[in-house]
Amino acid sequence: MTNRAATDGAAADAGPMVRAVAPGRVNLIGDHTDYMGGVALPMTIPLATTITGRRVPHVVSLTSDHEPETLHLTLPVTDAARTRPSWGRYVAGVTQLGDPPGGFEGIITSTIPIGAGLSSSASLTVAAALALGIERDPIELARLCQRAENTATGVPSGIMDQLTITASQPGTATLIDFESTTVEPVSIPEGFQFWVIDSGQRRTLDGSRYASRRTECERAAEILGPLRHADPVTIEALIDHVLRSRARHVHSECVRVSEFAHALDNGDITTAGRLMDEGHASLRDDFEVSTDAIEGTVDSLRAIPGVHGVRLTGAGFGGCVVALAEPGVELPGWSVAPAGPATVEVL
Ligand code: GLA
Repeated sequence: MTNRAATDGAAADAGPMVRAVAPGRVNLIGDHTDYMGGVALPMTIPLATTITGRRVPHVVSLTSDHEPETLHLTLPVTDAARTRPSWGRYVAGVTQLGDPPGGFEGIITSTIPIGAGLSSSASLTVAAALALGIERDPIELARLCQRAENTATGVPSGIMDQLTITASQPGTATLIDFESTTVEPVSIPEGFQFWVIDSGQRRTLDGSRYASRRTECERAAEILGPLRHADPVTIEALIDHVLRSRARHVHSECVRVSEFAHALDNGDITTAGRLMDEGHASLRDDFEVSTDAIEGTVDSLRAIPGVHGVRLTGAGFGGCVVALAEPGVELPGWSVAPAGPATVEVL
């Protein structure tokens, strides 16, 4: 049976219209900590991937407003990593691992810029899981989507993006502890305005740099134990300067996340901004994931009165930065408030 014939046959058994919406996320602080059992404080943003269509038996057929080629899959999917077009690997991954009750025919639209560090791929994966009718609690859904992404792309990314998207609560940022896999809602105080600004540099994590950073952290942890709990004096005694720098970043970033959460609780914008600036310096100098485009964007934003802190957000190597400003300040990007978690509804 060809894909087209399968699609036509499936249409006859189509269920009601379904719409799944999964937001992107911006990480306020705590980058490159998730895969080391650290902590982070991200929030969902009002940019999202939407999948609308009908559940059908046997096939997945999806068009995307960002991509020229339609995705056609015949169930069961057995080798998501080889799917063509390549954007369909995220959908194929979650279809392969998630054991959905059937397939789906529909369209994908997204307001999240792709490759900009705002979790467009995790958003697509979660939206696809929900559209397909996969039912899990938020943590299990995030675990499934992380595995799907790892399988589909070969990138050993952590669970922060998926967990933010599935487990956040409306109107709050999310403090995540990756050691215990627990989430806690955190309110954004009055007088704090977060902005997301695009450096204009696109990136993919498919190259080896994300993976090599993770490997370096794991080598450091083999010597020191969990980096989050390591003694700073012991970290500084590491002979290998690359491992020492990576360990210093993970440890200090986890400390900053806790202090940042307290600064939010106390409505202390000066401290919160300073911690963001320090986090950026650590990602630039110790973790070496900044770029000239990011540095240019950060410098220009810091020169604007009323901006308290600016840092790269997500993996780095390009993409967006996040800024904390006083109300009334206008920056060249998206002013963002926490959105809710991903949802699915029958129309
Ligand atoms: C990407 C990964 C996440 C996380 C961040 C860095 O977004 O998908 O798991 O590691 O980079 O904090």
